[in-house]
Amino acid sequence: MCGIVGYIGQKQATPFLIEGLTKLEYRGYDSAGIAVYDGENIRVEKSVGRLSALTDKIAQDEPKGSLGIGHTRWATHGRPSDLNAHPHSDCTGDFVVVHNGIIENYLPLKEELIANGHIFHSETDTEVVAHLLESLYDGDFEAAVRAVLSKVEGSYSLVFMSKKHPDMLICAKRENPLVVGLGDKENFIASDIPAIIGRTRRTYILGDGEIAIVRADGVTITNKKGEPIAKKVFTVNWNAEAAEKGGYEHFMLKEIHEQPKAVKDTMRERIKKDGSEIQLNELNWNTKFLSSFNKIYIVACGTAYHAGLVGKFYIEKLSRMLVEVDVASEFRYRNPIVDKNTLVIVVSQSGETSDTLAALKESKRLGAKTLALTNVVGSSIAREADYVLYTWAGPEIAVASTKAYTTQLILFFMLALYMAEIKNTLQPSRIKELITLLKRIPAQISETLTDVEPIKTFAKRYGFNEDVFYIGRSLDYDVALEGSLKLKEVSYIHAEAYSAGELKHGTLALIVEGVPVIALATQKSVYEKTLSNIKEVKARDAVVIGIAAEGDEELSKYVDHVMYVPETDELLIPLLTVVPLQLLAYYAAITRGCDVDKPRNLAKSVTVE
Ligand code: G6P
Repeated sequence: MCGIVGYIGQKQATPFLIEGLTKLEYRGYDSAGIAVYDGENIRVEKSVGRLSALTDKIAQDEPKGSLGIGHTRWATHGRPSDLNAHPHSDCTGDFVVVHNGIIENYLPLKEELIANGHIFHSETDTEVVAHLLESLYDGDFEAAVRAVLSKVEGSYSLVFMSKKHPDMLICAKRENPLVVGLGDKENFIASDIPAIIGRTRRTYILGDGEIAIVRADGVTITNKKGEPIAKKVFTVNWNAEAAEKGGYEHFMLKEIHEQPKAVKDTMRERIKKDGSEIQLNELNWNTKFLSSFNKIYIVACGTAYHAGLVGKFYIEKLSRMLVEVDVASEFRYRNPIVDKNTLVIVVSQSGETSDTLAALKESKRLGAKTLALTNVVGSSIAREADYVLYTWAGPEIAVASTKAYTTQLILFFMLALYMAEIKNTLQPSRIKELITLLKRIPAQISETLTDVEPIKTFAKRYGFNEDVFYIGRSLDYDVALEGSLKLKEVSYIHAEAYSAGELKHGTLALIVEGVPVIALATQKSVYEKTLSNIKEVKARDAVVIGIAAEGDEELSKYVDHVMYVPETDELLIPLLTVVPLQLLAYYAAITRGCDVDKPRNLAKSVTVE
């Protein structure tokens, strides 16, 4: 997730580019850059660090000109650095591009371009686009852009600028957002509305496959075939704050709704084209490597710890290796039994959590091999670990973690399958079947997000209760832990998750008339047992909200309400059941008037012990 902007008109481009990037910094903030055409040449200025590093750099000598593009980066291919910052240029400096997304086939393209004499300066996937443009250009800028787009695979929003065609900017998108803002003798391009609403409220929201030719005095939008299309002007009536949240009231809600895209991005480039295998090129492990371990530790904090619990289940079940899970603040002081035969997996959205980082360092000191699952490229944890798998969820702003959790689950699932492939612990047909179901998850998460009205109703009805219990068995229990944490964090309701089978050993004493119990019952292998536990709480007059897979006809007979999620393998269903629980926590917090994105006493990234 990066932020991109473009300007063409009569005024100076730089002030708009900087203003737009400032509004888009929430999309990425590890480096930034702009390119401005001064009437003769394109001047590119970029800098690693927050946008302020770039503005400091150009403060005494701002690039002048009324045609320009800019970018604020959230690194994917290549660590944050001056060289990897956008815009990227071809060999001649005649073509410049900014990009948000991932060009999946950049490596073969890059190899071909290098063989043809092109010289690359960065580690990014984006730079191939600039060189491709140079190689395919024969005087017609638009035709060259179309030729480039026919060659690149993956997701993108792209803005192209050429000094040979200073009367236009061309932009295109696939799966990543892009808007064109319509001004008076000037036009704007941006990833997102916040960048442009200081200048105009009239916009075109580009669709996948559409290409916009943006001139100072007009915008032409064409479809894939190059035919002009009549696009409706969308007039934005959000205020600046709402625009930053994509029209959602809070970042938490926005991030919950971003999950289908986020999990898709996590899978991107990691599944073999024919769907038969998981490919984690970042690891390149083999049988010898895996057989050197007699144990795996998963270590993390908060929501990442809860993802680790699911990770343990996946790895043990699919790749048959022994896994221990621990919270980082305990692990590091436990004198853990870790040596060179241990693989330690640390999980951290931010990659900066102090306890997790310390646990990682301690593991290395003890001789373990380490793997980090994190969301932030170049973070301390990513730098320290022997191996890294990125979640690619894009920046998560709300303190309560949502899309980081689901993307961590996806990564764990893929890691477990990958290890199963190496260790031969699963039939190829079962691997293929699970990959087919995995690929359906983004659409199924979208389905769970379509009708939130019943969840709002529950939140209103039970939002003022002081205690809520979450129960489940097996993976349902792990999701119950995450659901209850979400409710505690944002609504301040006392919420407890219990393994349903453990209720009778103490907690059942707390179940009295009217106490809400959220009961997850999706795990087929323990379904009947879970039903018995639900009957136990129902017999004490609890109000039970069940969560079940579609097609379940039993549960509704024993509970007060049921929320259904789409059907999938019981291993993958946590990716779906967690969504209504996130929403329930969110709407309960709204009911109680809590500050959802900044809950009291909590911080997004805990960099102190
Ligand atoms: C804080 C956040 C949680 C997060 C935890 C671990 O407590 O509020 O949402 O799960 O830190 O953060 P990490 O960045 O390491 O995943």
